[in-house]
Amino acid sequence: MRIAVFGTGYLGATHAACMAELGHDVLGVDVDQSKLAKLQSGEVPFYEPGLEDVLRRNIAAGRLRFTDSYEEAAAFASVHFIGVGTPQKKGEFAADLKYVDAVVETLAPLITEDSVIFGKSTVPVGTAERLAARASELAKEGVVVELAWNPEFLREGFAVEDTLHPDRLVVGVDRNADGRAEGVAREVYAALLDEEIPFLVTDLATAELVKASANAFLATKISFINAISEVCEAAGADVTQLADAIGYDARIGRRFLNAGIGFGGGCLPKDIRAFMARAGELGADEALTLLREVDSINMRRRTKMVEIAREACGSLLGARVAILGAAFKPDSDDVRDSPALNVAGQIQLQGADVNVYDPKAMENSRALFPTLGYSTSAREACEGADAVLVLTEWKDFRGLQPKDLDTIVRKRVMIDGRNCLEPEQWRAAGWTYRGLGRP
Ligand code: UDX
Repeated sequence: MRIAVFGTGYLGATHAACMAELGHDVLGVDVDQSKLAKLQSGEVPFYEPGLEDVLRRNIAAGRLRFTDSYEEAAAFASVHFIGVGTPQKKGEFAADLKYVDAVVETLAPLITEDSVIFGKSTVPVGTAERLAARASELAKEGVVVELAWNPEFLREGFAVEDTLHPDRLVVGVDRNADGRAEGVAREVYAALLDEEIPFLVTDLATAELVKASANAFLATKISFINAISEVCEAAGADVTQLADAIGYDARIGRRFLNAGIGFGGGCLPKDIRAFMARAGELGADEALTLLREVDSINMRRRTKMVEIAREACGSLLGARVAILGAAFKPDSDDVRDSPALNVAGQIQLQGADVNVYDPKAMENSRALFPTLGYSTSAREACEGADAVLVLTEWKDFRGLQPKDLDTIVRKRVMIDGRNCLEPEQWRAAGWTYRGLGRP
């Protein structure tokens, strides 16, 4: 099939490359020339394991190209995917839909044969219905432009795997239109359906809500264990053992029960806020209370981490603090709403000399927080430190041994913001170890 993908960020670039990997002819479309130039030359503008291989292989095979021309995309494909961002509006909880709207406004009038536009971006419920009407309105006479919603559930760090082998596919279709969207989606994803990946067809609103609810549930699960971790701290119990024990119950499950400095990134925080804003607009206010609490439990963990560091150093004024990890999670260079950088910034504002090291997120961190100190290795960041804080659980940091740092630091204090180290190992080597929600 001939497919165009609008937006070449984490979602769009991955989707474009993976659709080509499935054998389709794909055109990636963006307005950012520098991104397009990188992608066209086989370079992924962000860190995503495995994506560069897929990109290069499919460019070389002639199945994948990039352009800034909507005219070219409209002439090339009759299947379009929207993968542009829906960031949080400044000063509000609601999502900013200007990029999604712009794709439909620009693309729909250019389309010359019957086509389906699939939205993939995470949007407030009701957006798809509005855009479906708008696409029909803008379409040339005699041309049917159908809009459907096919939410994306990919995780950064596993984006290729999640796109080629998702847990499920969801397609929301306009039930009033006698449309082709379901059939087209079945064709696009034929290889995945052969693998018996569950394929759910819903109405537009349900598909939009599936995505919002999935993220809200994941955020709630993390904040649940972080709330329990606060109780563990007060009671002298160990939240990691507790999570292992409750996680054996299949109804609960161990995944997403890691207590620590909480969730960040370009999705969960803004998506739960947009969900609250939309539920409020719809008059379902009571549903908001839970997510507001989820958000504040999450933000509280960052403050708690700073307090623990202050306690450990006596005062942060003049203290040297090593920060290991800046990305919002390992295997990513994404620092959007990163708990690690947020903590680093707060500690610096309280007068500490902060040195940050991250295996992949240095450039993005510098751009966002130019005034923090940056080091070229974990060891360098730890030189003369009064406390070492592990804030992103990269494999390199999980594998650190006390002997790697013993003689470098000024004080042997390890604060584990992700509960990813073995307390006994550090204590046995004469370190003070502090986790979150651990005695
Ligand atoms: C998330 C959803 O998982 C994905 O399905 C959706 O499409 C986009 O948003 P992502 O943002 O890539 O994906 O990250 P995710 O793996 O969900 O982690 C989010 C945050 O939660 C990270 O900051 C991570 O460190 C934190 N987290 C995760 C915890 O604090 N504890 C956990 O147990 C799991």
